Order: sequence, then structure tokens, then C-alpha cells
Amino acid sequence: MNQKRLVCLCNQVSAQEIKKILRMGAFTIAGVQKFTAAGTGCGRCVREISAIVEKYQEEHPNGPQLRINFEKME
Ligand code: FES
Repeated sequence: MNQKRLVCLCNQVSAQEIKKILRMGAFTIAGVQKFTAAGTGCGRCVREISAIVEKYQEEHPNGPQLRINFEKME
């Protein structure tokens, strides 16, 4: 998969950006949506975002690689 290919056209978010936010601790579709806005427009990309999130979760059953407290970032 081309990591720079846009997954969410509405909000111009690539697979690479989604994986980055997952590594930073988002770890769920809601987290990805909150910090990238991917999937918050027409919704057409949500299935693909979900597949990326599920694959990441399977590869990292103990949680995200980093644990950034997003609550403090707001
Ligand atoms: S393509 Fe992602 S919300 Fe429309």
C-alpha cells in the first residue's frame, strides 16, 4: 500500500498520517477521527480507516507504541 495515498479525500488524510496518530496513542477509530478529522466528512473512507486501525491493533495487542496524553494537548 502506498502510505502517502490519501485515505480520506474530504480531509486530505493519508494512510501514513493515520498510522502515525495510531503510534502516538490514538489507537481507535474515534481517536483517529478526533486528531486527524479523517472519516468525519462524507464517511466513505470509514471502512478503510477501520481496516487500518484493526490491523494496527492486531499488530500491537498491548496498546500503542507511545502513550501520549491527548487530554493535556487540548
Ligand atoms: S473521504 Fe473521508 S470523510 Fe469523506
